[in-house]
Amino acid sequence: MTLRHSGSLGWRFFYFYFRRCKGIFMKRLLLFLIWLPVLLQAQGGMWLPMYLEKQNEKEMQALGCRLDADDLYAPNRPSVKDAICQFSGGCTGEMISAEGLLLTNYHCGFGAIQKHSTLEQNYIEAGFWAKTRAEELPCPGESAMFIVRMEDITALALQNVTETMSDRDRQSQIDKNLAQIRVGTKKEKWEEILIRPFYNGNQYFLFIAVTYTDIRLVGAPPISIGKFGADTDNWVWPRHTGDFSLFRVYAGKDNRPASYSTENQPLQPAHFLPVSLDGVEEGDFTMVYGFPGRTDEYLPAAAIAQTAEVLDPAKVSIRDRALKIMDGFMRNDPSVKIAYSARYATIANSWKKWLGEMQGLKTYNAMGARQTYESEFARRVSQNPDLKVRYSNLLPRLNQTCQEIGPFARARDYYLETFLRNIELMGQVSGLNNWIKSYQDNNLNTFAGQTADVNKRLAAFYKDYRPAVDKAVFAALVELYAQNMRDDWGAAYVRNAAAERGGYDLLADYIFSNSTLASPERWGALVKGEAKALGEALSQDPAVAFWRGVTAPYQEQVAPRLQELQATLNLLQRQYMAAQIDVFREKRFFPDANGTLRLTYGKVRGYSPKDAVRYDFRSYLDGVMEKYVPGDYEFDVPRRLIDLWKSKDFGPYATSEGRMPVGFIATNHTTGGNSGSPALDANGNLIGLNFDRVWEGTMSDLNYDPAICRNVMVDIRYILFIVDKYAGARHLIDEMKLVRGKRKKRK
Ligand code: ARG
Ligand code: GLU
Repeated sequence: MTLRHSGSLGWRFFYFYFRRCKGIFMKRLLLFLIWLPVLLQAQGGMWLPMYLEKQNEKEMQALGCRLDADDLYAPNRPSVKDAICQFSGGCTGEMISAEGLLLTNYHCGFGAIQKHSTLEQNYIEAGFWAKTRAEELPCPGESAMFIVRMEDITALALQNVTETMSDRDRQSQIDKNLAQIRVGTKKEKWEEILIRPFYNGNQYFLFIAVTYTDIRLVGAPPISIGKFGADTDNWVWPRHTGDFSLFRVYAGKDNRPASYSTENQPLQPAHFLPVSLDGVEEGDFTMVYGFPGRTDEYLPAAAIAQTAEVLDPAKVSIRDRALKIMDGFMRNDPSVKIAYSARYATIANSWKKWLGEMQGLKTYNAMGARQTYESEFARRVSQNPDLKVRYSNLLPRLNQTCQEIGPFARARDYYLETFLRNIELMGQVSGLNNWIKSYQDNNLNTFAGQTADVNKRLAAFYKDYRPAVDKAVFAALVELYAQNMRDDWGAAYVRNAAAERGGYDLLADYIFSNSTLASPERWGALVKGEAKALGEALSQDPAVAFWRGVTAPYQEQVAPRLQELQATLNLLQRQYMAAQIDVFREKRFFPDANGTLRLTYGKVRGYSPKDAVRYDFRSYLDGVMEKYVPGDYEFDVPRRLIDLWKSKDFGPYATSEGRMPVGFIATNHTTGGNSGSPALDANGNLIGLNFDRVWEGTMSDLNYDPAICRNVMVDIRYILFIVDKYAGARHLIDEMKLVRGKRKKRK
């Protein structure tokens, strides 16, 4: 009764307004009411730019967006997407001036910053700021790839593909189709064609892209700002990192890609992002535009459980050991600290993410939620004869295959983590095995012909290699391997090898004191001499022998079955993806991230990680000072920043309360690859720079939960403050287009 009553009251209220109000307000109210149920539902998703109008525009506008879909993506006229690029393959960057100024994360630009740093000119410690264009530093190897347009080519890509085809036949038919599509696609000669499968291979999209490779370093804060909090704060909110760096993209005189030349000119992008000085408040609409790398949002509960209970724990336990050992050496010896800091950060980054992921999946009951979803799937399928014929076997088969692949997938992770990713010497041997084999197969020419290349690679590797560290990692991980692998999958081999030498430490001693590859000196001496002597030495190398000994059972007993099961799983997952779309017609499905351009949107919002704890949406410079530990490698703060904080010399960049904002969080659904992505406001102006996710929400790659999943961004005002006030690089600010007045009406 009550409900009804209030309902009709609501209607009267609505009718009243309907008669009184016209135009934009009315439209908003209507939109709001229509979309209310959707807005209360789960958010999340990494959406395809070309389908924003069809799938998202209304919802986005109901959430507060003031742009139309084609302001964000238009194939034939400038749009926001023209300001977004994939930076150096794994990150995102954006244009923030008419003259090719590119903003990305500090950790994305770190490689370039490191390459230009020496002990005398240490840009890592001191930061770097080019005062003129001439001072900008060329960065060979870095790149900026822009998307010109995208096309749905599913129909052509899947032409003559049938449901009954074997996976191999299917793939070769698709490859044939794609080859034809490439030939038939019109493009300019400086453009390239990229084709990617979506929805587990149910759809295909083509992208026309343009890649610039003359990229120059313009500015970077010192590491104590750019990586403040380092590994301790990584994946954690509240966060206080100024994770940004600046580059400039150069093009030929015709504004097209050109390899490095002093004649090149700053790129004039079709669009660059205006920078907003307004800041953000809780509840504000935000979007993140970039190149997310990989997600798996549509797995069955069984696969999620496997990740949470078996695979993540296995990988975490291996890296736990390796990291502790590295850390011990790094604390004892500053030169090891320098040599291993990049490697340590990379290994620790995934380690910590997996740890957060496995905990999050359990704490927030991802498996339970997925089971409920699967029951509903099964219910709908069983009630519809048409669906029943097609899908009733699907989930049981998928679950069955998940079960079967379990031990093999675990073995794969153990093998790869141990012998490819964590013991450096083994990783090198694995890359050199074929080359060494060419000598043993009497192809002396091939062997000698590749020696120079190998030497180059090894020289780069040895630069930061400390055999003593690797030896300790070897001893620990190999023992763990013997304890955790099945005997006939490699454990027996490892145990015997250790027994022969009198234990794991002695085995490590033996290998590291006798292997040519484990010693830069021995390698250096041998590589200068005869190819034959080198070939002989490597043929006897105990590291090579050990790697082969442990790899053989893996290649024979694990790999073939794993490959077979993986093919079945891929096929079933593809069918399951299509089935979900078919069965849940009312639901919108975004394709899993695959390194292509996507838009995600949400609202600025704090969260509650546990009972009685609530995290605010914003952090401040005061928080940097709270965390300050003088001289500490993670929490030191540069003198100049302390002075600016004390004198509150924040320029026009402070909040209205006069405080300096540093970071903020929102419900945007992001993943690795979104590092450096712009956070945009409702008008498409730049308000922040994405660089991380919160600890409790790292599970979002498998299970996005809007209650708990947040992306972490640097407030653009902190970046401007550092550039202007800290670095004194006012000329860069002048190059940007600063705007105020976000509450303005839609154009
Ligand atoms: N967790 C972020 C990402 O996955 C930031 C990594 C860089 N920062 C760091 N402290 N390691 O890339
Ligand atoms: N730091 C990540 C990157 O390098 C982005 C954070 C995430 O995984 O969400 O792409």
